[in-house]
Amino acid sequence: MKGRWRLWTSQTLASAAAMAVTVPMAVYAQAPIRSSIEVSSAEYKRGKLLYIQCRACHDLQPSEIEKIGPNLANLMGRKAAADPAFDYSPALQAAAGKLVWDRAMLDRWIEKPAAVVPGNTMAFAGVSNPADRAALLAYLEAETAAR
Ligand code: HEC
Repeated sequence: MKGRWRLWTSQTLASAAAMAVTVPMAVYAQAPIRSSIEVSSAEYKRGKLLYIQCRACHDLQPSEIEKIGPNLANLMGRKAAADPAFDYSPALQAAAGKLVWDRAMLDRWIEKPAAVVPGNTMAFAGVSNPADRAALLAYLEAETAAR
């Protein structure tokens, strides 16, 4: 994973001008977060399997390609609706000033997105099992952190 990050970094430096158009720089410009989650832990591995549910719609590392959902790089501590390349729903845009994605808020979002921001357009019912959500959050924290 370290290698992938370095590769991305060098590509970014090499094509900074092109990236400025396509990549949401504001998201990546914030102070890099660190994660203490062990990738060898059972929780991380469980989270990785559970993340299959989200993978079609979200990337966790900076990317030039936007999926169906916003890029989640540097997610922990990020304000809602902060990927400038993504066309958010009016509902999530309206929540942007009041909502920060910390663990507690993400736990609620993953449990039932519609309960956190009614009218948001993430087509996902939610994960009801708290242990599944905890594993997903551990995986998300590790994978969205700067390396
Ligand atoms: C069918 C596609 C889809 C799936 C599956 C999906 N999402 Fe999303 N997600 C979206 C869309 C679209 C949005 C933006 C919603 C809006 O603008 O109202 C979003 C928004 C988010 C946000 C807020 C991001 C921000 O910038 O504020 C988070 C966090 C998130 N999703 C996490 C997840 C996780 C974790 C999973 C799996 C458990 C998941 N999503 C599954 C499409 C999806």
